[in-house]
Order: sequence, then structure tokens, then C-alpha cells
Amino acid sequence: KTEQKVDSVLALMHLNEKIGQLVQYSGKWNATGPSSTNGDQHKLEKLKKGEVGSMLNITSVASIRETQKIIMEHSRLKIPLIFAYDVIHGYKTIFPIPLGETASWDLEAIKKSSEIAAKESAASGLNWTFAPMIDVSRDARWGRSMEGAGEDPYLNSIVGVTRIQGLQGDDLSSVNTVAACAKHFAGYGFGEAGRDYNTVNIGDNELHNTILPPFKAAAEAGVATFMNSFNDIDGIPATGHKGLQRDILKREWDWKGLVVSDWGSIGEMQAHGYAEDKKHAAEIALNAGSDMDMESYAYEAHLEALLNEKKVTIEQIDDAVKRVLRLKFDMGLFDDPYKYCNEEREKNEVYTPENLAIARDVAKKSIVLLKNENQTLPLLKTVKSIAVIGPLGNDKDTPLGNWRGKGEYNSAISLLEGVKNAVGNTTTINYAKGVDLTIPTLEAGANQFLHPLKFNTTDKSGIAEAVAAAKKSDVVLLAIGENAFQTGEGRSQTNIGFLGLQNELLEAVYKVNKNIVVILMNGRPMDLSRVSEIVPTILECWHLGSETGNAIADVVFGDYNPSGKLPVSFPHHVGQEPLYYNQKNTGRPYSKNHVTFSGYRDAPKAALYPFGFGLSYTTFSYANLKLNTHEIAINGEINLSVEVTNSGDRAGEEVVQLYIRDLVGSLVRPIKELKGFEKLMLQPGETKTVTFTIGSEMLQFYTANKIWEVEPGKFNVWVGGDSTAKLKETFTVK
Ligand code: IFM
Repeated sequence: KTEQKVDSVLALMHLNEKIGQLVQYSGKWNATGPSSTNGDQHKLEKLKKGEVGSMLNITSVASIRETQKIIMEHSRLKIPLIFAYDVIHGYKTIFPIPLGETASWDLEAIKKSSEIAAKESAASGLNWTFAPMIDVSRDARWGRSMEGAGEDPYLNSIVGVTRIQGLQGDDLSSVNTVAACAKHFAGYGFGEAGRDYNTVNIGDNELHNTILPPFKAAAEAGVATFMNSFNDIDGIPATGHKGLQRDILKREWDWKGLVVSDWGSIGEMQAHGYAEDKKHAAEIALNAGSDMDMESYAYEAHLEALLNEKKVTIEQIDDAVKRVLRLKFDMGLFDDPYKYCNEEREKNEVYTPENLAIARDVAKKSIVLLKNENQTLPLLKTVKSIAVIGPLGNDKDTPLGNWRGKGEYNSAISLLEGVKNAVGNTTTINYAKGVDLTIPTLEAGANQFLHPLKFNTTDKSGIAEAVAAAKKSDVVLLAIGENAFQTGEGRSQTNIGFLGLQNELLEAVYKVNKNIVVILMNGRPMDLSRVSEIVPTILECWHLGSETGNAIADVVFGDYNPSGKLPVSFPHHVGQEPLYYNQKNTGRPYSKNHVTFSGYRDAPKAALYPFGFGLSYTTFSYANLKLNTHEIAINGEINLSVEVTNSGDRAGEEVVQLYIRDLVGSLVRPIKELKGFEKLMLQPGETKTVTFTIGSEMLQFYTANKIWEVEPGKFNVWVGGDSTAKLKETFTVK
């Protein structure tokens, strides 16, 4: 039925209107890329002629209504606009950054946060978010690590699909849902040396076995849109990559959604040295299957001429337009273009106490306890004195992280506030900032894309006050890490340690009080080598969003037993990057007596804190790993069971992880791959049996035959609480 409606609208359209549907402009508000040379007047004229398909970065019901009205009152066919915005981890109620939220390994919580992000966005007039980012990312230097689900393809797939389900629900026409966007297709997380936008040099094996699986899962889950990416892969810019977009996504996967370019990425094919001029870029992009041009102004300027010159076909244009129209019908915008414009809802359903309570719940679940050597945590609420020290100790803005939607400047609950809310008045709290970690030029509302990172490295005057606070306190909560805008787009760094004067602060405080709990707030894996050497307790708190301080206090004082596990490996040294657990063995994995094996002479090869790792206030033990058979046919299944016991004296949750290795393959296989997990709650002393079914889904890979298949041979399987799991069984596929 929708197809008939789409065809009937298409039949009415003139060429300029068709091309217009393939154009996406940014509103004059908050541009997120290099500002365009075309001014707002140009956009207004195009809107009046009905030559725009979508707008991004226009927020609020009033502005959206006003913009939609231009189309409705002036254009011939009155085809409604779709309004898009980067709602990456919440609209106004801000949830943990996606990397941090992934550390919860709690699919229900992750879905809930996406549902609320969608509800608040839709209540504010929006229809489409550019999330989730499902780029597997293995290089901590890359600033956009914060935006995805980490280094593992399986985790990216399952978390990505969960986020899509949360955002889209099962009905795009509901006023509580928005269209999701699987991005960035493809390879963006593999930029050489972790440098944003950089060249990606990978082969077919990596592309198919690591990068594409989350995108395939997203397509199968019915994600409404895809965004292509800035990088080139093996010489072909992703935006102009026919193999990826037309052959794999649209033909092989038979996906019917809409592909939007990244900001200006069609035009950027000139800088890549792949297109002679913008016209050539438009030709390449449309032929390759990029449907909508975000801010390149290439389609609007050149598609008509390209059609006349037979460089593109009307079938290609029609196909792209149909993808846009289909989405508009699915959203119900043809029935009512103002469907999402309800001022009452915007007032009542955004940033509500209920939504904040859920943000707190998701935030506490995202915290990872990395070290608790002396069982310093949890603290008693009756502790006599606590020092809250550090540049992030009372920072109300950094916890919102980058890409914080409409999260208001300085609106997060700071650590200091959270601690104050938790303890009674018998506890003395000694606060000292110590050193600064703000970007001086970035005041409220300023365009963060225009402000280079520059921290104060000279003013040490606050350190003495911090030392004094530490001296007179029983325990120090030392809040250090990264400013919100150290991560995100364009935020690659060669140094993943503590910038500014944070190291000096750490050493000075450590000299006078060894009872330190480091409260780490960051958006990428950091070099924690010195911190973990001297500090007994480390709590990884990411950028946790609006309720940061309360959520941290929930964990610090034991109201919640931490259950997060790392979705990324933390290195000993930046020189290990890219670092990931599911690496290949190499021909020389290890030698006891000789240096000629694959490692570093000045640093370990393994992670400091491995993928999947995270402690609890209780302990868990694993036993009786059993397979119901040790031999199966190619399409057979094995039932695995394992007993997990809470061996401590507190109730707690454990993420039981299943890893598999295919020992010999037609292509070299990783030493271990996550294939399943289950998060469960165990009471003290309780044992539960966890089962997994191992079948072809878990055993297949994209082989030397260039198809997905299971290859016969031997496999190892491990179950445990992180990627170094030792409990192992073996089986054979005949
Ligand atoms: O959605 C983003 C994308 O991830 C990076 N470039 C800008 C887009 C729109 O804001």
C-alpha cells in the first residue's frame, strides 16, 4: 500500500522536485561542520520551491513548525520535510555516552535510554536521529570511540540493534519514535593511526568479518536509514563506494531504506582526489547509491545536467526519491506534516523527573570497577571525612559528554553534588578543584567545532589546596580524566594520558593520602599505567550524563553493586594502539627465551584492563563447563552449560561471556571472539546454571570462498567474566 502511495506521489513530481527530495540542509542553528558558502536566503528559496527533502539541526517545535510551514504554504506539492538531529545519547535528558552505556552490557537498560531519547526528540518535533554509530573502533586515539559500542563486532551488532529498536520501536508513525541511522558505512573506525577522517587500509577479511556484521544486523533489524562515511577504503571514498552501497547494502542485503551522505562527504571526494569537481562528485555518489546529499550542494547543482548528459539515470534518481518518500509515509508525515509539532508534549514530556530517574539507573549500571585492592569501596555513608578533589570533581558540564543533544550547559549533577546528596551531615566534605581542565574559549553554547583543545599547564596554584583537603580527609575521591570535548568528532589524540596538570595533581595528593579512589571520567580508553600502579581503587565512570553525581554516589556508597564490564581494552601505553582482544595469533605469538616474537620490548603485549573486564563488590566463580556433545555436523548445535556462583557476601550481577576460537581456517581467525553473553543477578552463595546454544550463527565467518559458511575443524570455547576467561572446552565440526 505504501508503495502505491509512493508511486503516486512520484508520478506527480517534476525533476527539480525529485532532486530536491535528495537535498538535506542544516538549519542556521548550530552548524556541525564547516559552514557552507550558501547562505540561509538560498535555503529559504529552495524550501519555498519544495526543493529540499530534509533539514538537520533545527530543534524545538516552534522552529520545526515554522520551517514545515514554508513548505506547506509555498511549495507546489507540499511534500513534508523530515527533521533530523544528532541525538546520540539523549535529547535533553542525557544518558551515558554510548561507549559508557555499552559497558552496562544491559540490553534492557540500553533500550530504555534509546526509547526516552526518541520520545523526547519526537515530542520536540524531530523525526530522525543520526544514531546509533556502530563503527567497530579499536584505536583509543580516535575521538569518536565514545560514540559507539567499542571494539567487538558482536557487541556492536547486538547493542546497535537494541538501540535501533529503542529509537524506532515497531512503528515509525508513533509520536514516540524517531527513525534511526546506522552509521558510518563503512570503515570509519579504522582510520589509520586513529586519526579522524583518515584513510582505511583494510582487506576483504577485515571488512566482512569485523566491520560489516553490525551493519548487516542493523539492516536486518529494519533500521530506516544508513549514513555513509568520510573515509576512503582501499582507495575508494565510502560515499562513492558502489560496492558497499549498491552491491552489498541495497542488492545483496535487499535493504529498502535511505542512505544519507555524511556532512559534505560528497563534495569531499574532490579533496580525496577521487572527483575532478563537484559535478563529478555528484555523479560518483549517486551512481554509488548515496541517496541524500547532506550539505554538499552537489545534487541540487548538478543532477539535472548529469541526467541530460546520461551520466546518471532517471531510474537511479527515482529509486533514491522513493526511499525518501517511503520514509515520510512511514512516519505519517503525509497524513499530518505537523504530527510531531505539539508544544504541550514538548513542555511536559522532556527532561522529566521520570526520565532523569531512568538516566540515573542506566548511568549507575554503566560504571566499571577496575580496581578495589583494599576493598576501599563501598564507602560507609558514615565516613567521617571525604575529600572530593580534581578538575572534574564539581564539573557540571563535562559529565554530559560530547554530542549531548540539547543537554543544557552545566546541567549535570556533579560528583560533589552527588556525594553531598548521599551522605548525612556527620560527614565532612573537603572539596578542592586542584587544577583546571576546561577549554577556556568554550563558554556556554559556543560552537565546539571551532575551539581547539588548549588546557592550562602553568597555573599550579590550586594544588596546595587540594593537598590540604587530602591531608585532612579519610578518603580521597579524585575526579580526573577528559574534558567532554576531548572526545567526539575531530578529537583524535596521540596522548591518551591525563592532560593539563592532572598528573602533577595525582602525585601531590598521593604523597599525603594513599587512600585514593580515582573517579575516572572519559570518553576513550586511557593510559592508566601510573594510576593503576599507585592508586588502590579505580572507578571507570565515562561521561555518564545528567545524573552523573548521583549515579556515582550510588556505586561509591554501595547502594548499587557495580556490574559494568569494559567494551574496549585499556592499554599500558598508547603505543599498543590499536589494541583489541580479538586479534590474530601471528606466526610468532610467544617465545620464552627469545625476543623474536610478536610483542613490545618496552611494554606488555596484553591490555592493562582487558575487554569484558569489570569487578564487583562480590566475587564470582565458574565451574562445570559442559558440552552435550563434542562433535557436530556443519549445521549441528551444541548445548553448553556452566555453573556460576556468587562466592562473596553481597548480591551482585555478573556478565557471563562466551568466547569461541576456530583453530584453523581458510583465513586466519582471531584468537578469541565474543559470541554470546548473559547478565544475571546472584544472591550471596547462589549458583545458577547458564546455558548457550552454539550453532552455525556463532561458528560461521566470511571465508576464502567469499561467502559466510562454517568450516569443519576444531574449535575452542571459553566461558568467564572477561576476555581472558580460562575455563575451556573443545569440540569438532565434521
Ligand atoms: O551525524 C553526523 C556525523 O556522524 C558526523 N558529521 C556530521 C553529521 C551530522 O551532524
